Amino acid sequence: MDKNSVFKTNVIGAGEVGSAISVDMDKNSVYKTNSFYWDTKGNDFLGAISLPLYGAFVSEEKCHLFGDVSGKKMLEIGCGNGQSLQYQGERKASELWAMDISEKQIEKASQHLKACGLSAKLICSPMEEECGIPVDYFDFVYSIYAIGWTTDLEGTFCRIASYLKKDGVFIFRSHPIHKCVVAENDRLAFKKNYFDESWYSVSLDEGALTLSDRKLSTYVNALAKAGLVIEQMIEQSDDEIISRDDNSEFSKKAKMLPVTFVVKARKL
Ligand SMILES: C[S@@+](CC[C@H](N)C(=O)[O-])C[C@H]1O[C@@H](n2cnc3c(N)ncnc32)[C@H](O)[C@@H]1O
Repeated sequence: MDKNSVFKTNVIGAGEVGSAISVDMDKNSVYKTNSFYWDTKGNDFLGAISLPLYGAFVSEEKCHLFGDVSGKKMLEIGCGNGQSLQYQGERKASELWAMDISEKQIEKASQHLKACGLSAKLICSPMEEECGIPVDYFDFVYSIYAIGWTTDLEGTFCRIASYLKKDGVFIFRSHPIHKCVVAENDRLAFKKNYFDESWYSVSLDEGALTLSDRKLSTYVNALAKAGLVIEQMIEQSDDEIISRDDNSEFSKKAKMLPVTFVVKARKL
């Protein structure tokens, strides 16, 4: 931990989690801390965020970013418990591949897909590292709230571009601004500097996560460097989906600012 550590309020997923501690970024220690978290507490805390929902009140059923995936080769980055792979499999994707840093999540995904009668090639690895995924192979690479955990955004986007065929599509979601803002007495208050991309650690129950929040421009510039061209971007929550969860602080925020963005980009 950085000896100049400072404590600051932060937001993970949909809720405020209190103190975050600034840390120096060391890739291997981030892998260790985060994979331990996803192996243990993981989705019990965040709740599964899986297709057709991108999380944060945006749904594939309304956006149709994928369109018809029948016969398409799909790769999911950070697949968690495999529910988004199930969604793609049931829509007749021809091949399902996925990676995740957590052995436990890979195990859950494997059991879940087996129970659904689907087969998938599942690899336990950090997304930042070479892990035997074929290049120039996939029609779609996608990630539902996992890209933000990378320690190397530019390197990860370059790897993703390499996995795609020419004209292949990359779809992912993140949310750079809502983590800076908390709801207080019917107002939204900035508690964190939007421009601050430094690494921090938060304690969650018995676990901890280490992460950094990147600006929208950081994502856009990293896509451009990797040769991925944005075709569509969604940042507005769907009113009908919000109305199903109308009283939460997260839904109050979602009515006033983007709590997510979903990007569809294409490899040239
Ligand atoms: C918020 S969950 C979302 C997963 C999935 N959409 C779901 O709801 O089950 C984030 C996932 O990313 C994985 N992850 C975190 N850091 C990763 C990394 N560096 N490389 C690969 N996967 C990672 C975690 O293990 C976890 O399964």
